[in-house]
Amino acid sequence: MRKFKKLIIGNWKMNPLTLEEAKEMTTRIKRLTKSLKKTKVVLCPPFIFLSALLSSKSRAVSLGAQDAFYQSAGPYTGEVSSTQLSAFGVDYVIVGHSERRSHGESDDIVNKKVKATVGDGMTAVLCVGEKVHDQHGEYFSLVKQQIISGLKDISKKSLDRIVIAYEPVWAVGAKEAMRPADIAEMAIFIKKTLRDAYGIFGDDVRILYGGDVTVGNCLEITLDGHVGGLLIGRESLKVKNFIEIIKIIDSI
Ligand code: PGA
Repeated sequence: MRKFKKLIIGNWKMNPLTLEEAKEMTTRIKRLTKSLKKTKVVLCPPFIFLSALLSSKSRAVSLGAQDAFYQSAGPYTGEVSSTQLSAFGVDYVIVGHSERRSHGESDDIVNKKVKATVGDGMTAVLCVGEKVHDQHGEYFSLVKQQIISGLKDISKKSLDRIVIAYEPVWAVGAKEAMRPADIAEMAIFIKKTLRDAYGIFGDDVRILYGGDVTVGNCLEITLDGHVGGLLIGRESLKVKNFIEIIKIIDSI
């Protein structure tokens, strides 16, 4: 079984407004992360800031994109390809975030993006999660379906370039995270899904949780939720809090 470092991903979404702010945030985070022992940090700024932040990459800090297009080049106005991102020095790509799925990104498109990302040598952070946490547990089969179709044609060998980020949509951008016990239940279910599909130990693929992660709940979520890291939206923009979370997780 593989022993991973914990992974903390900051998804900045469409923030901050200026390059100066983005640089300032990155410098502060990088300063702290020099001393990290058990944690790896991935910053996912908007595309426009990637180039200026490239020099901030270090042993502990990687850069990620929030999306990538699956065709490598051509007449695709407004798109940025995974091939371009990879050539540029980006290491991670968030794929299938619920905010993109809500704009019509289907499982099929998500799968194409996962394949392109992995094929271009980067790590795909495949986001899955239910919109409604129904009483009958139907969300389990939905998450399974998102994983199976998201990873279609991804070989067992390529799984080391896959991270699964479980983000219940109802918790993303909301005021309440999922209960750690429920996260643990889902983490076990995802591991079983991967074991059934690939015959691997579930722990061989890193599973993250995302959705209202804060300084206050990050420890409980990580320990009691049995996840290998966190995908953080709003709290990653408050640099002081983000650094605090990283410190807490590194101390586990
Ligand atoms: P949030 O967002 O931490 O603001 O809930 C998480 C995400 O969208 O990845």
